[in-house]
Amino acid sequence: MASSREAIPTDFTRLFGIRYPIIGAPMFLVSNVEMVVAVSEAGGIGTFPALNFRPVEAYRSALRDIAARTSKPWGVNIIVNKSNARRKEDLRHALDNGARLLVTSLGSPAEVIREAHKSGAKVFCDVTNLQHAQKAQDLGADGVIAVGVGAGGHAGPVSPIVLVPWLKEKLRIPIVAAGGFASGRTIAAALALGASAAHVGTRFIASVEAGVDGAYKKAVVDATPEDIVMTTRISGTPAAVIRTPYVEKLGLDLHWALKALKDQPRAKKYVVPLIHWLGMRQLEEAANKPTWKTVWSAGQSVGLVHDILPCAEIMERLVGEYFDAVAGMPK
Ligand SMILES: Cc1cc2nc3c(=O)[nH]c(=O)nc-3n(C[C@H](O)[C@H](O)[C@H](O)COP(=O)(O)O)c2cc1C
Repeated sequence: MASSREAIPTDFTRLFGIRYPIIGAPMFLVSNVEMVVAVSEAGGIGTFPALNFRPVEAYRSALRDIAARTSKPWGVNIIVNKSNARRKEDLRHALDNGARLLVTSLGSPAEVIREAHKSGAKVFCDVTNLQHAQKAQDLGADGVIAVGVGAGGHAGPVSPIVLVPWLKEKLRIPIVAAGGFASGRTIAAALALGASAAHVGTRFIASVEAGVDGAYKKAVVDATPEDIVMTTRISGTPAAVIRTPYVEKLGLDLHWALKALKDQPRAKKYVVPLIHWLGMRQLEEAANKPTWKTVWSAGQSVGLVHDILPCAEIMERLVGEYFDAVAGMPK
């Protein structure tokens, strides 16, 4: 198991008292209790989006379950924009159940930072550029997650090869690299770029524990980086999905009428949640049951994923490959 190997100490691992600088990144519809526990037990830190559990009672039960099954640090992702009506409640339950890491996305992390710090938890904020990263630092974030081009979910526009060292030059807080980090070799590269950890999403879709249909996992194994396309049809902002015949049929842009309404200040308030709801329903249907309506979210690192393994074995492989990559570097 990964934990029998040498540790990889960084600012990030020291902050949490863990062995490996690897976050099992939160993935809508994919991350579940089993994955979180397995990644944390293997020496990384497992996380999940609070909204994977609906209603709130299911979320509270998941939190209790995780807390009962591991004494290692784990984390919760909270979407902090105002359209997420559960954000305050989800934060409170996460902290009450002992979450040590809060990952914020899509909005201002100010309240999460304030509340988490009262409980001794740490907050890492998803950012895609220097302006947002600096704002997170000014608000007191413990670190940022630099989400680069090619990441699964809502990827940023900048290459992680540039984004990580760019933020590193300007920030005082630790940086976690996200987007394409799916092998030990890439994790070694992340640390060389100045990151304190890697945020690994897509690799863990192809895990035994992931709570999605087998066809989705197989699609991740079979896809190449060129099969990943950006679509605005899911949430109105570009999100990475595997190009399937159904995605091609749908097209990659919002329906022209929704697009026009989204740009009208008065209609926006109603249309944006509608776009989210329609997109989420589509993703949910495709993720959980066999269907020809395949809208499967994944990043370019599908090209580095060749098998479906238990999370503990993925962790072990990432760590083993990391040491091989470092040892194989020219002296
Ligand atoms: C299927 C899928 C769902 C995701 N859902 C979320 C989410 O709900 N919240 C979030 O902050 N990030 C989400 N992400 C982004 C990941 O947390 C992470 O930043 C990204 O996967 C890293 O890039 P990688 O896929 O190349 O490893 C998602 C990614 C994927 C692949």
